[in-house]
Amino acid sequence: MRIAVIGTGHVGLVAGTGFADNGHQVVCVDKDASRIEMLREGKLPIYEPGLEELVMRNIEEERLSFSTDTRTAVASSLIVFLCVGTPEGPGGRPDVSHVLDAAGEIGDALNDYKVIVSKSTCPVGTVERIADTIRARTPHRFDIVANPEFMKEGAAIDDFMRPDRVVVGCDDVRVLEIMKELYAPFLRSGKPFLAMDVRSAELSKYAVSAMLGARIALINEIAHIAGAHGADIDLIRQAMMADRRIGPDYLYPGLGFGGSCLPKDVAALSEMAREAGLPRGVIDGTGAANHAHLRAFGDRILGHYGDSLSSKRLAVWGGSFKSKTDDIRSAPAVGLIDRFLEAGAEVRAYDPEAGTNLRAHYGDRLTVVSRVYAAAEQADGLVIATEWREFHNPDFERLGTLMRGKAVFDGRNLYNPATVRRHGFFYLGIGREGK
Ligand SMILES: NC(=O)c1ccc[n+]([C@@H]2O[C@H](COP(=O)([O-])OP(=O)(O)OC[C@H]3O[C@@H](n4cnc5c(N)ncnc54)[C@H](O)[C@@H]3O)[C@@H](O)[C@H]2O)c1
Repeated sequence: MRIAVIGTGHVGLVAGTGFADNGHQVVCVDKDASRIEMLREGKLPIYEPGLEELVMRNIEEERLSFSTDTRTAVASSLIVFLCVGTPEGPGGRPDVSHVLDAAGEIGDALNDYKVIVSKSTCPVGTVERIADTIRARTPHRFDIVANPEFMKEGAAIDDFMRPDRVVVGCDDVRVLEIMKELYAPFLRSGKPFLAMDVRSAELSKYAVSAMLGARIALINEIAHIAGAHGADIDLIRQAMMADRRIGPDYLYPGLGFGGSCLPKDVAALSEMAREAGLPRGVIDGTGAANHAHLRAFGDRILGHYGDSLSSKRLAVWGGSFKSKTDDIRSAPAVGLIDRFLEAGAEVRAYDPEAGTNLRAHYGDRLTVVSRVYAAAEQADGLVIATEWREFHNPDFERLGTLMRGKAVFDGRNLYNPATVRRHGFFYLGIGREGK
């Protein structure tokens, strides 16, 4: 099939490449000309494990191309995927202006029948607005589909190639058959293709995000209760995970959820509940608890230094919102670095992949170093903000000689507190006061 993908961010680039790798002819479009230029030169604008090789292979096989020209891409395709961003807008409602702008451009480009598929995460009813926008701009026939994306950054290729499920919201059985055919190679292991109405499909993405966010917020609260009562959260977590009704995922005490999905999706769901005049205690509690949790960890760090960080230097390991991505959107690390800078600290950060994004975000307010131990030089404390593999087993002897203050603030519970203390460091983890 000939496919156009509008928006070449994390979702569009992975989806476009995934379809191309399954033999389809794909053109990925972005309005950001520098991004398209980079991709044409074989350079990736984002870090996603395994993606570069896949993009290169499909460019070489001439199944994947990149363009800034929506009109030509749409005109030459049967299926058009909308994958543009929906950042959080005022009051928690997602800003769908990019989606509607792109819909208008698609409408202007229609030259024949097309299937328009929205992968962007949008509040219920947006897909109908997309259809109205296109309809107002073209006499040509088209069908509209909601196909929310559930991929995780850092494991996006595997999630896309072997999804837990594919959700497709549409009203037309023939379109459903086209979507089934498109996704069949991805569902060979028997994972479900879930056909439903458009509104349920739109909402299903928010429901998943809210459930995952609630798990993370809850395990963090339980971790604090464990710490306060002299219990061990690591053992408690094992007892919880072993329960088949609960399972192991999204149960790691840490700095809370961040990234481009969970925080804004939880806020958007709350807004949808508010608009309908419905109770939203759990949803609001999830967002508020996540925020309060990060704030409390920052308070503890500041408290360690007498609530002032002037003349202090802090090392921060990790900038991305989780490991295996360079995405710093709503990253807990960014929340902490902001706090430290406000409190007068000099901050030196290291991240294996997010250094460029950190530099672009902070400019000269933050020193971003390119080697992990360089961040710790003459630091008064080391903050672990992301669970990158290379942070798991540091040389504490070396850190002890490099740092001028011996304190480790382990926001990801990576270390054995006793080991860290044995090297003469003060240790603070998440809910590990009893250890
Ligand atoms: N990032 C994730 O892990 C993830 C996972 C699931 C769902 N989603 C959802 O998918 C959508 C896309 O997310 P993302 O992280 O890929 O976004 P992104 O911000 O990384 O990328 C969006 C891209 O769309 C481009 N764009 C905007 N308007 C355009 C237009 N009119 N024409 C062409 N290009 C245009 C931008 O230049 C940008 O490169 C969002 O709704 C998001 O909530 C994201």
